[in-house]
Amino acid sequence: MRILSGIQSSGKIHLGNYFGALRQFISLQDEGESLFFIANHHALTSVRSAAEMRSLTLDVALDFLALGLDPRRAVLFRQSDIPEVPELFWYLSTVAPMGLLERAHSYKEKLARGFSPELGIFTYPVLMAADILLYGADVVPVGKDQVQHLEITRDLATKFNAAFVPGYDPKDPTGEATGAPRGVLKLPEARLEESTAVVPGTDNAKMSKSYKNTIDVFADDAAVKKQIMGIKTDSTPVEAPKDPAATPLLPLLRLFAAPGDLAELERTFREGGLGWGHYKVKLLELFHATLDPARARRRELTDDLGHVEAVLVDGARRARAIAAPIIDDVRRAVGTARPS
Ligand code: ADP
Ligand code: TRP
Repeated sequence: MRILSGIQSSGKIHLGNYFGALRQFISLQDEGESLFFIANHHALTSVRSAAEMRSLTLDVALDFLALGLDPRRAVLFRQSDIPEVPELFWYLSTVAPMGLLERAHSYKEKLARGFSPELGIFTYPVLMAADILLYGADVVPVGKDQVQHLEITRDLATKFNAAFVPGYDPKDPTGEATGAPRGVLKLPEARLEESTAVVPGTDNAKMSKSYKNTIDVFADDAAVKKQIMGIKTDSTPVEAPKDPAATPLLPLLRLFAAPGDLAELERTFREGGLGWGHYKVKLLELFHATLDPARARRRELTDDLGHVEAVLVDGARRARAIAAPIIDDVRRAVGTARPS
């Protein structure tokens, strides 16, 4: 099974990103051949500074490696290092209906917010389809917001196969049932990360950069302390039982605490006797106990950027090796392959 996902860099990661996405992605490296890439071409639809682009790209690599992605098992690479992606993008764009792209959320949302979208926003899902189809991915772990893009990817693969593979039967894409020829592009499955329970932010709304309510995984100690101590609480007196839904403290503690400790925390919530400050200190301790190894590793990696670059270069080489036979088939199917 080949697992692939792309991560668009969007700055500092918070506990929502970690528990909702990165942790699951990294654990997939034990389940099959996995490829993760930094979608910097996609990010270019909003980043307009070369220095920022470079540092955001590097941040994703550092985050993944610090949090446990093992480059001997998983392939980690930059989208921009793979020239076959824009090539496949073009082939797919020749079969992509405008109407399908006009229905894409990313484009519709831009329009709704009153922007005049660039072509890159409009064709964003086609580039994403190229990212996935180029490597013949079986499974693509994504958040809910990306499910539509996966449907578009399957649509484009089907349209490509129907256009360029004579006899291709969209009802039997692998040809197993009818003996019809197999498609050149494999249809991937989205895997929605179910455990993506919403991680609450310091104000008890969904944790999100845009709400400024984050607890950041790699912020310095003082900033982490400030974020955790700043968690909003109510005026329940120390002796009184605490409402677990009144603050994000219990849900956040649940993410970190061992089952035995958690039972104890839940009991004191029910019975009262401990103030909110007690739970904040506990959360701060658990945050550090859980994440300090990754935080230390990230600092070490930052001191050895040559190593990080070498990982990315090697990742690109391995990714291109996986892509090579697929893009060859594509070129033969469309008639751009050089005569050998
Ligand atoms: P933000 O809302 O901070 O901009 P992103 O949209 O960049 O975060 O999220 C990247 C990924 O992290 C998403 O695909 C989602 O799966 C996950 N994620 C973000 N916030 C949360 C959260 N509060 N709870 C669970 N998962 C989250
Ligand atoms: N669009 C995705 C996001 O914003 C990132 C992405 C680009 C991606 N190409 C991909 C995800 C291919 C999965 C597969 O999160």
